[in-house]
Amino acid sequence: MNSAYSVGPHEVRLNSSSGTTYSVAELTAACPTPFWLMNLDHVRARARRLKSALKGLPVQIHYAVKANDHARVLSALKDEGIGADVVSAGEAKLALAAGMSAANIIFSGVAKTRQELSFAFASGLKQINVESLEELERIEAMALEQKSSLRAPIALGLRLNPNVCPETHPYITTGFRENKFGMDESAIREAVARLSRTPAPLQLRGLSVHIGSQLLDLEAVDEALALALRLQQELRLQSKSHSHMLWDRFDAGGGLGIRYETEDEAQEVALVDDFAACLTRHTQALLQEGSLREIMLEPGRWLVARAGLLITEVQYVKRTPLKDFIIVDAGMNLLLRPTLYEAHHRISPLLTDSQQVRQSFDVVGPICESSDFFARDRELPTPQAGHRLAVLDSGAYGRTMSSDYNRRGPAGEFFFAEGQITG
Ligand code: LLP
Repeated sequence: MNSAYSVGPHEVRLNSSSGTTYSVAELTAACPTPFWLMNLDHVRARARRLKSALKGLPVQIHYAVKANDHARVLSALKDEGIGADVVSAGEAKLALAAGMSAANIIFSGVAKTRQELSFAFASGLKQINVESLEELERIEAMALEQKSSLRAPIALGLRLNPNVCPETHPYITTGFRENKFGMDESAIREAVARLSRTPAPLQLRGLSVHIGSQLLDLEAVDEALALALRLQQELRLQSKSHSHMLWDRFDAGGGLGIRYETEDEAQEVALVDDFAACLTRHTQALLQEGSLREIMLEPGRWLVARAGLLITEVQYVKRTPLKDFIIVDAGMNLLLRPTLYEAHHRISPLLTDSQQVRQSFDVVGPICESSDFFARDRELPTPQAGHRLAVLDSGAYGRTMSSDYNRRGPAGEFFFAEGQITG
């Protein structure tokens, strides 16, 4: 699989699936900054690569829409046979509008409102992942109220909080006991006991587990899968006599990360192979005995992060006694990750001449906060006002986390597919 872009010393090139490469500067010269550029061919290539890593398993991929919810991205993924994992009715509507079927959409999230649950019931979403006993109580009550209008039983997953702590930024761990997500083992048991007594039209399909995002080490994933599948098997055997407790699905969540510091994608591609091996190891016995029929995954970042660039124009190169700043027209309003997680994004000039002296700069945006930076003390060729810079690997959690803080308006959005740029 080609990388989405290649960063040379003096330019960024877009790699198309046909093998042709394009100068991003030339390709987007007419696009006003700031803007996002998504290489949709790369998104599709990633989807295919992920599917091929998992081909021995009965897996359905549900893309985590929050990573990048643009209709073009959703529709490219739908064309690859991928469904959606959504965390609001708003996201579900986007997935449906992009042509994804309700039967291929999972609904996760800790704060599902009554309106959102009604919407999920009425649209017949594939599964609702329940995050608390309190939510289960609401779902039961609503399902009883709406019993006569339901076309089919409501399929539920129970989200386990396995109390594992993966190596990632603390803001994006979700499977540790201090986190608000999921239910611990005893709450899961209580939920199962409750469901075994329920007269509501509910169907329990299995556990779900998602322990965090930007995971590059599978140790905690391995631990969480072992715990979750052991528990699923135990609970299945206990509740065998209940025909509405099927235990035929397992949702292994998302979380696979990318290596933001480098252009080398080989390791993160190997990561999906290792993940597939880990998943196979933990599910093999259940699949063989026929109790488990479907494994669901919810990847977001791994599919789309590498495909996106944020292109911004240098406004000023500001010299001060202590530091030199490159001030650009995009900031934390568009790409919040460096501010929120001190996340690293590579930055590259779109086109430089080889004479430009390299020097250390802070790359900062226009927003009236000192937290508005893309990079600190980063060595870059000295630009001039009007030069364009690409902030790399910003296809995931870029535009979806952007805001209109300071009223700078939204950024443009451009897409590359099959040799063409479109807006
Ligand atoms: N499933 C659930 C239930 C999730 O909460 C998430 C992400 C995913 C799947 C997808 O995770 P992924 O495969 O993309 O790691 N804004 C942060 C990431 C937050 C992730 C939130 N949940 C960032 O920019 O790094």
